[in-house]
Amino acid sequence: MVDARSLQQTQSIIQTLPGGLQEHLFRVRDVAQEFAARFRIDRARVELAALGHDLYRAMSPAEMLALARTWGLKPHPVEERVPVLLHGPLAAERLRRECGVSDPEVLQAVCWHSTGCGGMKSVALAVFLADKLDPQKVAERDHLRPVAELARESLDRAAAAYLTWEIGWLVGRGDLVHPASVDARNDLMMGLG
Ligand SMILES: [Fe+2]
Ligand SMILES: [Fe+2]
Repeated sequence: MVDARSLQQTQSIIQTLPGGLQEHLFRVRDVAQEFAARFRIDRARVELAALGHDLYRAMSPAEMLALARTWGLKPHPVEERVPVLLHGPLAAERLRRECGVSDPEVLQAVCWHSTGCGGMKSVALAVFLADKLDPQKVAERDHLRPVAELARESLDRAAAAYLTWEIGWLVGRGDLVHPASVDARNDLMMGLG
């Protein structure tokens, strides 16, 4: 259940963020709302999670790691090496602490929006894909167009396709892969049979 006050408090925090980040959040909210309408997902949860997903995207990696430790989030070793991966968990924690958000689907969507995770519910899938399919990103990155096409029919197929690309890209570069992304892809692939 989403409380109207949670949305108001989240919107107040958004007003303190850099302009470009605010615009990204509004575009993601709009794409996520389209998914919510098309796939009959709870609009209020999707709106709150989409608006709240990047509250810490502008924070420096060192500050992200320090805040995660202060809040007792126990960063995964991969997150310690790649602290930007903590901006989702930190945003979920701030929504919980400051905005009174307790809805597990909203918190899951915000926490895991960058990596994905096993057992993603529909709100999380909508926000994960809306973040990747921000129209500004789709216009600049060719690999996102087939994902956007798939998302017209199936969020599961689109998310699996995105993760296949993302994991392959990270491995090809010699980068670390967060295990939650592998869990997310395995889960989606097994669900798709
Ligand atoms: Fe993000
Ligand atoms: Fe984002």
